Amino acid sequence: MTILGDLAIQRQALLRLIPRELSENTMSTKRVVLVMLAPLVFTASLVAQDTVSAKLALTPPMGWNSWNKFACNVSEDMIREMADAMVKSGMKDAGYQYVVIDDCWQVSRDENGNIVADPQRFPSGIKALADYIHSLDLKFGIYSDAGSKTCAGRPGGLGHEYQDALQYAAWGVDYLKYDWCNTTTQDAEASYANIRAALDAAGRPIVLSICEWGKAQPWLWGKEVGGNLWRTTGDIQDRWSGKKEWKPGDCCSYGVVDIIDAEAELYSYAGPGHWNDPDMLEVGNGGMTDVEYRSHFSLWAILAAPLIAGNDLRNMRPEIRDILTNKEVIAINQDPLGMQGRRVSKSGDREVWVKQLKDGRRAVILLNRGPSEQNVVVNWEEIGNPDHLSAAVRDLYSQVWCDRAVAWRSDGNGNALK
Ligand code: GLA
Repeated sequence: MTILGDLAIQRQALLRLIPRELSENTMSTKRVVLVMLAPLVFTASLVAQDTVSAKLALTPPMGWNSWNKFACNVSEDMIREMADAMVKSGMKDAGYQYVVIDDCWQVSRDENGNIVADPQRFPSGIKALADYIHSLDLKFGIYSDAGSKTCAGRPGGLGHEYQDALQYAAWGVDYLKYDWCNTTTQDAEASYANIRAALDAAGRPIVLSICEWGKAQPWLWGKEVGGNLWRTTGDIQDRWSGKKEWKPGDCCSYGVVDIIDAEAELYSYAGPGHWNDPDMLEVGNGGMTDVEYRSHFSLWAILAAPLIAGNDLRNMRPEIRDILTNKEVIAINQDPLGMQGRRVSKSGDREVWVKQLKDGRRAVILLNRGPSEQNVVVNWEEIGNPDHLSAAVRDLYSQVWCDRAVAWRSDGNGNALK
């Protein structure tokens, strides 16, 4: 398995050759390519509502969350170290912002119904931790659940929404991931509208991450109830492909390509302030090759997905850090137009994904999702290029304008030139 790097193509008006097809003629690959086109320009703000939620997360949220690597093994020391590592590793400079504690920070409620953090694991309290994270000029996120208990069996938010929202605001929470376990007969839309109303009433701008796994199609109502992102599937697994049932009849956790299949048709629902969430990143957690991690990251970038790292930031290999901090790939993800990339062709394991960028360029992924080498061919018009346009190609991992652009002009008869 090899990778075809990510490529960016920019319009070059002076070129006369007419590209009809792009063909990767030298590398057969595993995984990805990005391309861009220039002309069109359009801008109007896509945020119509004048609400708190509509002004948050105008580009996909970037940060780190404890769950994928640490599950319930969370503590204030570990979270502080991770915040420090976010700064030292260059992740903060690359745009990562939110440090989010997932499940298991909470143990009970007191006699007044206030949520209580685990005193052993968080002896200084949540406010002190939030203050520390803010002192690094980062933002602080926390986790709860719309039902009576969280997925790990800790106290959920049901019936305490306004009380909890006030507590979160007092602690300095900037981001709330709200899960969907133990919700019995609750209506998802109403439940998430309720917590958003509670957060707004508490008076602090808090990003709302709807974690309902796509069961009630949150892309249809997530924006209206003030969600800033919504999970579209069950949990990601640290693997390239394959679904795994939680228990018989209870589907599923998913590999990377299974998740992108679920995302492929949802592009129209994403935009500034409201994003499809294909779950947090597994980059660096050990279950995939570096090529697969690079592909995973590139796909999340072109999907305009939240980039929430889920690995141990304190001891990343340079190869992993380089993937997570690749500023050119991140810029594709953070493009202010906020369009989610689309899969424009699929032939067996070979796929082409395209994301329109605000300045008119296009990011393109040539993806080989299979285990054997493949040539990936893309038709020029599929990526939105008018027939007369030529383009320069930039590989976003080697970060060079590459000779392969030459190979990507056609002879006018639909044949790619070498
Ligand atoms: C669910 C969510 C995960 C994680 C766990 C915590 O499975 O989908 O992302 O938050 O709960 O228990």
